[in-house]
Amino acid sequence: MAKLRTSWVCDGCGGVQVRWAGKCPDCGAWDSLKEFRHDAGSAPAADGAAPAWQGLASASPAVPLGQVEPLEAPRFATGVGELDRVLGGGCVPGSAILLGGDPGIGKSTLLLQALGHVAALGTPVLYASSEESAHQVKLRAERIESPSNAERDRHLYLLADTNIARILEQARTIKPAILAIDSIQLVSRHDLDALPGSMSQLRRCCLDAVQFAKSTGTVVIVVGHVTKEGDLAGPKLLEHMVDVVLSFEGDRHLAWRVVRGVKNRFGSTLEIGLFEMTGSGLEQVDEGAIAPDAVARAGCVSFPTLAGSRVLLAEIQSLVVAGILGSAKRKGSGVDANRLAMMIAVLERHGGLRLGDRDIYASVAGGLRIVEPAGDLAVCLAVAGAHLDRTLGRGTAAIGEVALSGEVRPTRQLLQRASEAVRRGCSALLVPAGQVGDLKSLAGKADIVGVTNVAQAIDQLGAVPSAVVQPSPRVSTRRG
Ligand code: TYD
Ligand code: MG
Repeated sequence: MAKLRTSWVCDGCGGVQVRWAGKCPDCGAWDSLKEFRHDAGSAPAADGAAPAWQGLASASPAVPLGQVEPLEAPRFATGVGELDRVLGGGCVPGSAILLGGDPGIGKSTLLLQALGHVAALGTPVLYASSEESAHQVKLRAERIESPSNAERDRHLYLLADTNIARILEQARTIKPAILAIDSIQLVSRHDLDALPGSMSQLRRCCLDAVQFAKSTGTVVIVVGHVTKEGDLAGPKLLEHMVDVVLSFEGDRHLAWRVVRGVKNRFGSTLEIGLFEMTGSGLEQVDEGAIAPDAVARAGCVSFPTLAGSRVLLAEIQSLVVAGILGSAKRKGSGVDANRLAMMIAVLERHGGLRLGDRDIYASVAGGLRIVEPAGDLAVCLAVAGAHLDRTLGRGTAAIGEVALSGEVRPTRQLLQRASEAVRRGCSALLVPAGQVGDLKSLAGKADIVGVTNVAQAIDQLGAVPSAVVQPSPRVSTRRG
């Protein structure tokens, strides 16, 4: 029998220590070191290196790059297009994927849908649920449409178990193309003296799953819970072990849910997958159907945002109401709170607006998140419009980064954004003055208005139309 050795793993940071201490030397947490027994051969190194990799590394000698054979089947699609897009075109055999997200966001539904699609093509897949019984999973599967339910039901294997050894044993027998473990927090190894969900169990079970993926070529997808702070449980610990980390985001009550790549060893992390939860599972959102609002409203501005290879027409909304001077609220949902505070300061200093005693709220419709500075101008105009009760007019989009000096700066990929906005029905665009020349190809299709600073942009705001339905106003006929 292999000799057992004891190490101490911190529940807070996952750091490995050779002896117990009251305070973790790595993160400073008190009473967080937990005993962790393992084979002497797979001892976790004191520097925190994962134990099982050592064995794998010595088994295969180093080879020159030129002699490495490319994988025979580089990727296979799950059939859920929006998920494949985030994965970089499909799953890479032998990869380990971590899917994280709030409870109730739709992680289990998405997995079951993806597995259902693969199974419907006649490929065996295994869904191991540690949270629900096979009966509950079956009930869920019955709600979800799949291309061929009979074929799916034959090749989609369900297992309700919390023992990682039994799950991997079943996977060895069934030889699925994809093994999904939902969720990693509730599975455990019975030979470890730690509770399921504790750092040492998470570390060990995830490592077992990753090693299984590497050694058999199976795609292993593990579901991870997020903490109250919104991080994946097991701070960075699981993220380091897997090849791909996907985050399922959005509010349970909002229309859209977004799958975002946080880390991807096989593709870009810029792509996002858009879904909508319906009565029969998650439906993929066709971004082409998103058009500017039919009615111009104060405080709403369209902004074509880049999401990987796509441009999505986001709507930034703002509300400005009376607050208390000195403790005015500034809240953003889907927009960066620091950036919003900066834009409010710019509007005060360079836009001539008095916002010190105003509560200001800004959000992005549909649950999208805007992190790029190119959205600054749209945020400024949404806040200014809400404050002044004015609007840019129907079908007008704004693009541009706003500097702290109030100047509107050039933005990358302007033509791509502008062309998409026009294709979706925008008839006028507010862009940085220095880049108007880049949009010559759009002449005749949309009015292009260049603005040099935020004050000029505010001058473009006009009165809200009194009638609900108005003919589309042209930007060039407005003030400014
Ligand atoms: P679920 O996939 O269980 O979320 P998670 O695994 O992330 O906790 O389901 C999320 C919610 O979606 C659940 O409250 C029920 C709802 N739902 C639908 O609205 N329609 C459906 O077809 C399904 C399967 C679930
Ligand atoms: Mg679930």
